[in-house]
Amino acid sequence: MTEPHSLPIGGRADTCPFAPTAELYDAQKDDELRRVKVPSPLLGEFDAVVVSRYDDVKSVLADDRLRMGGAMPYQAGNLLSYDGAEHTRLRRMLTGSFTTKRARELRPSIERVVASALDAVAEEGPGADLVRVFCAPIPTLVICELLGVPYTDREEFQRRTAAALDFDVSREVQMEKAAEMEAYMAGLVARHKEAPGDNVLGRVVRDFGDQLSDSELAGIGNMLLIAGHETIASTLSASIALLLQHPDQLEIVRDDPSATDGAVEELLRYTAPATILPRQASGPIRVRGQEIREGERVVASVLAANRDVASPDRSQDQEPQEEADADTDLDRLDVRRPPRRHLTFGFGPHQCLGQQLARMELRVALPALFTRFPTLRTAVPHEKLDYRTNALVFGVNSLPVTW
Ligand code: HEM
Repeated sequence: MTEPHSLPIGGRADTCPFAPTAELYDAQKDDELRRVKVPSPLLGEFDAVVVSRYDDVKSVLADDRLRMGGAMPYQAGNLLSYDGAEHTRLRRMLTGSFTTKRARELRPSIERVVASALDAVAEEGPGADLVRVFCAPIPTLVICELLGVPYTDREEFQRRTAAALDFDVSREVQMEKAAEMEAYMAGLVARHKEAPGDNVLGRVVRDFGDQLSDSELAGIGNMLLIAGHETIASTLSASIALLLQHPDQLEIVRDDPSATDGAVEELLRYTAPATILPRQASGPIRVRGQEIREGERVVASVLAANRDVASPDRSQDQEPQEEADADTDLDRLDVRRPPRRHLTFGFGPHQCLGQQLARMELRVALPALFTRFPTLRTAVPHEKLDYRTNALVFGVNSLPVTW
């Protein structure tokens, strides 16, 4: 029997940070499911079945016998820690706050947040690191809106978020900052208990506060911060880095507002920042007729699935006269591509709760950045950009720009 291959936790190629490893493409062609070793800083090295075909990733994510539980550390109030009926119960308390309508209502706040981030970029001047002054502050400030963080606390909140989610500090420092953040969330919950604000956390406290413990309520706040911060910051940084390398595509995002929604879908498909989604089998299950044993871990590569030519396009959703996407070169970035279905927000019971909000943030921020700085370019050669490839969330660590 041959030794299983090793799959880096980021699942990204050494040669191009935006592409899946060759192994993931090979696994798409194999009839037999592959087993790999995955070295992970968080979970240690583990063995896993890898799925990278679009249909397989979708069916794995839809199957609730494949659990989050064993794959992620438990946190009260964090949906990603729950499965089955407990998960459904908690998720139902939150879905009403994350509809398309709510995302639309948040647009004016998002526009204000983006305008202030653009001012900060201008103040910093050429050489500014867009990750620090643009990509990271935007989601933090939007989450402040969701949680009802008072304006006077926002600067401190931003500093604490940056420290708690900093990938470069030691695990001890990160834990210390995360504990500070948890204490802050507990205080915020106490304030909402006295006077619930008109925001996500305020509504949960008002409508379901008697069914949830204080640690679950604080955990919901923490989950929104963790789930909604790094993912947006990373999608923004990766999309900006990518567009600066494709000026023809950038021009479309900057100059054609009618292309914005489609361009954002393509950028989401292409960057897939939550690259690999881990699961663990709670009982024996079958994928493509092959058995995955109870207790086995599974890693689903969203990035590879998004580039699987067998993934459906959305032409059936479009006007009949619109042409189906005959182009199957899914390794190419094409912001005018008729939208393809992608799995960047996951699928099934844990599918991203914040996806409409995420889309809104990207739709506002990307065109605004390129309109305000029409001559924007990276201040270092593209190949010198510092990508974060070996982590569960892909992004760019720093993005120095000039104009
Ligand atoms: C482009 C940005 C984002 C991406 C790519 C993204 C991606 C994802 C993915 C892939 C999952 C499923 C994880 C899994 O099945 O293992 C997920 C879950 C989740 N996301 Fe997002 N997300 C983004 C933004 C946000 C935002 C802005 C929020 C809210 C503020 C949010 C809140 C959540 C929550 C609460 C879950 C857990 C849902 C559950 O377990 O039922 N996300 N996200």
